[in-house]
Amino acid sequence: MKTHSSTYWKNYFIQNASIKRVDWKLKPNLQESERNNILKSLQAWQLGETSEGEHLMRAAKQYSIAVNDAEYPDAVKLFIKEEQKHGNNLGKYLDLIEEPRIKKDWGDSIFRKIRYYNTNMELWTIAVITVESAAQIFYQALKDATNCNLMKQICTDILIDEAAHITFQKERLYIIFSQKNAVLKFLAYHAYTCFFLCTSLVVWHAHKKLFKAGNVSFSRYFNKMKFKLNKVAGKSILYPQKKQQEIQLLELNRSPF
Ligand SMILES: [Fe+2]
Ligand SMILES: [Fe+2]
Repeated sequence: MKTHSSTYWKNYFIQNASIKRVDWKLKPNLQESERNNILKSLQAWQLGETSEGEHLMRAAKQYSIAVNDAEYPDAVKLFIKEEQKHGNNLGKYLDLIEEPRIKKDWGDSIFRKIRYYNTNMELWTIAVITVESAAQIFYQALKDATNCNLMKQICTDILIDEAAHITFQKERLYIIFSQKNAVLKFLAYHAYTCFFLCTSLVVWHAHKKLFKAGNVSFSRYFNKMKFKLNKVAGKSILYPQKKQQEIQLLELNRSPF
């Protein structure tokens, strides 16, 4: 898999931060039924996107020393800044519709505990990939669950950012994975899958009302998550040599000689 340098990612984040995609002159326009469907999830994700990221920064710094990549923490810092922008935008929206920004949520508390004890870059990376994959479905559902143009613009902006976040993290997971021996690769591959799918179920449970309001049923959600898992941590991604060998074997079998 092609991976980019930390300098590339730093430049990407700096350039992306200069693009403003939300027109704050728009007034929110939310129906009562829409408010009822989205509010709890909107408040929970606003809180989730607001983290200071100090534990992630600590893990990134330790990791960068181990792999001798001095610019990696700078890229992670800019990545965290982009997540905080999402939290700020969702918070601004809550202020405009005169709803409170919450301070506590059970899902957020679990993730904060995990984050607190986690100093391992690999665990961070798979955790972030999982949450961001769910975020892509979540923000699309949020966008579809309302006719408010301001909300739609906020979601579109986040969706554009999240697509790059997943690539950023997917590349890191691949780099970490490729340095393992065969046994550890086998264990890690299954651990990623298990963590990703279990966390997906927790996210569904917490936000099913919003997903359904955005026309995402459980089977649609779970199929999308499995598809995303395959794209970020599937066999063809993590074991590209194996895929190459399979293609060569297939071509050999097809050959008349
Ligand atoms: Fe985000
Ligand atoms: Fe993100």
